[in-house]
Amino acid sequence: TPLLQTPLSLYDQTPLPYERQLAKLAQVRAKLGRQDLTLAEKVLFTHVADVEALSTAPGTYLQLFPDRVAMQDATAQMAVLQFINSGLPQTAVPATVHCDHLIDAKCGAQPDMEAAKRTNAEVYDFLSTAARKYGMGFWGPGSGIIHQIVLENYAFPGGMIIGTDSHTPNAGGLGMIAVGVGGADAVDVLAGFEWELPLPKICGVHLTGRLQGWASPKDLILHLAKLLTVKGGTGYVLEYYGEGVETLSATGMATICNMGAEVGATCSLFPYTASMRRYLAATGRSSIAAAADQVADQLLRADANAHYAKVIELDLATVPAYLNGPHSPDRGNAVATMKAACAANNWPTKLSVGLIGSCTNSSYEDLTRAVSVIRQARAHGITQAKAHFYISPGSERIRATIERDGLLREFTEFGGVVLANACGPCIGQWKRQDVEEMKQLNCIVTSFNRNFEKRNDGCPNTLAFVASPEMVTAMAIAGQVTFDPTTDTLEDAHTHAPFQLACPQGQELPATFELGDTSLYQGPIPTAERAAVQFNINPASARLQLLVPFQPYPQEAYREALVLIKAQGKCTTDHISPAGPWLTYRGHLNNIAQNMLSAAKGVDVQVGATQNALTKTKVNLLKNHLTGQFQEVWQVAKAYQEAHRGWVVVGDENYGEGSSREHAALEPRLLGCVAVVVRSFARIHEGNLKKQGVLPLTFANPADYDRLQADDKVTLRGVEHLTPETQIVLVCTHANGTVDEIPVRHTLNATQIAWINAGSALTLIAAEQAA
Ligand code: F3S
Repeated sequence: TPLLQTPLSLYDQTPLPYERQLAKLAQVRAKLGRQDLTLAEKVLFTHVADVEALSTAPGTYLQLFPDRVAMQDATAQMAVLQFINSGLPQTAVPATVHCDHLIDAKCGAQPDMEAAKRTNAEVYDFLSTAARKYGMGFWGPGSGIIHQIVLENYAFPGGMIIGTDSHTPNAGGLGMIAVGVGGADAVDVLAGFEWELPLPKICGVHLTGRLQGWASPKDLILHLAKLLTVKGGTGYVLEYYGEGVETLSATGMATICNMGAEVGATCSLFPYTASMRRYLAATGRSSIAAAADQVADQLLRADANAHYAKVIELDLATVPAYLNGPHSPDRGNAVATMKAACAANNWPTKLSVGLIGSCTNSSYEDLTRAVSVIRQARAHGITQAKAHFYISPGSERIRATIERDGLLREFTEFGGVVLANACGPCIGQWKRQDVEEMKQLNCIVTSFNRNFEKRNDGCPNTLAFVASPEMVTAMAIAGQVTFDPTTDTLEDAHTHAPFQLACPQGQELPATFELGDTSLYQGPIPTAERAAVQFNINPASARLQLLVPFQPYPQEAYREALVLIKAQGKCTTDHISPAGPWLTYRGHLNNIAQNMLSAAKGVDVQVGATQNALTKTKVNLLKNHLTGQFQEVWQVAKAYQEAHRGWVVVGDENYGEGSSREHAALEPRLLGCVAVVVRSFARIHEGNLKKQGVLPLTFANPADYDRLQADDKVTLRGVEHLTPETQIVLVCTHANGTVDEIPVRHTLNATQIAWINAGSALTLIAAEQAA
């Protein structure tokens, strides 16, 4: 029907894919003989390139055609630079670029925005030019955070989006398969190639009951993070179902899906609900809701007897309010246990800063719940929070709406500082003003999603916790991370009588949304005008640099390779390619490569006894095994490269967890890394290494991590004739001359081996374009 041909969004002409999906679903059922499909399977399988080739055997890769691509400015630079090298005239699918990561939070929205526009003018100009040239939508600085804008404008039930940011799964709150990828994957889809995804297992999360008291959707996912840990969701799509789902708002479901990234899940999604219909209507997309209504039973909900690989049962009424951290989002502390936890761990109880908002928690419902807490305090004469208090609206639409409705004024009258509609402190773009606090162990609480060490303010003394915005607000008012609003009291400013905060009350949606400054969006220009658009990259630029495709490694690089670093414990993409000040160089590979592995903790056995003290206490200081000198990690890597020696990185569990940052793979590749050998990988990073032509290997026996020494020379036997079945063996010659043979595994399929053999996936695409 015409309704099913409604455009994908208010900004697109491309129709919703529902008719095509319904036809494919019938083919999928016939091919697989299944009437017990999960919702995730329905959405995934109706996006496969070739139903006839579809297999659900373990270890299979799906070849998919997503509906759209979204890129944030920090990752878009490298993705666009790669797309330029593909030689194509325009993107094959609708795509958007979002300027959100490069805005430093310092004084407040207006001065910070002005500073960001000056500082990043070159990058914004490059991205806006690229958007015009290749037919993409461009959301300029101040328009908001990628995931919030995607939810407000582009997400739709049953769709598929990939995004160059690890919290892309946020769009699962509107029933979308939404996956965070590296820039190289985005380039494939922009270029019209299939996107390859290892067939995920589907974990059902069966929700019953209703959240109670202070518990919010954020607490549900903090609870699951505690249960599953940061890697418990690896290889899974988390699919929520059950009557509890109907009690959640669409934005609450988005929060839950957003933080599925914190348990390593490929993505998370919810079936189509009445709250999704309400959200679509409130954001001007009633026609999409009407189309979704038509296909909901067939396409947007699981089959009645859907088969899940495993099921987690969760009664929402049992979920307490949480404060997870520090240093890991799965370190779950029920708020009620924080007094004991602080005492046991010697954490300070004082809260220095509370921050709310971000892509995770800046919905109208979130902010009205936070304000409801502030109103109670003000009713008792409390004029401002004891802790510093910041608010990061997720989008211009949200900011303008809460301004119109008076919430913004209530935040500021209470001493809150409203920051730009951007990531800011969530990604380390934060010039914290309370520098005295930072000199000692100090606590901050955010409503963001990540809390790795130094992520927010770059300070090793900061203990960061994550919680719901209303809990952050309550703790900021009390000035204590141990404050439990269900048992503790505040003091009335006039009577000095104790009083207790009542449970927060929010409003799911405003009567209407304000759009605010619509000039922050630049739509695609007509096709005929695109060819004339020119790039102007200054060869002397420190921030942007055209890429040179990687060439394949000679076989000698895999012989007697040196171990650059044997990383110990957690080694996230933030350790491999830190953010903060380095965000400046995201579009300049040679410059940003100087941060490579600079935050990784190396095992100290690589150096002699006298130097152990050095490496125990410092990062980014390594012994160059060719000269015996101590240098920064990238300098050692460069020295090996200049000496024509291949080198490897050795890592621990879940290596590369965190973000989709492909710089964490590009930098080692640029400086000559031939392989990364670990106990286990985070999925996105493993894929990124393959794309850039670096071999990702895992120890067949994880205990062999201890046998491989940091001063070994490693020959990778089997790489010379690599096939998907090849058993690679690391022949390790130890410093004392003894030799160990260590079997390792790889997950490369034939296509990925072609990338390795060509030098990188991009090198292969460019060669195919030229042919
Ligand atoms: Fe930005 Fe933090 Fe979200 S960096 S995209 S607000 S996770």
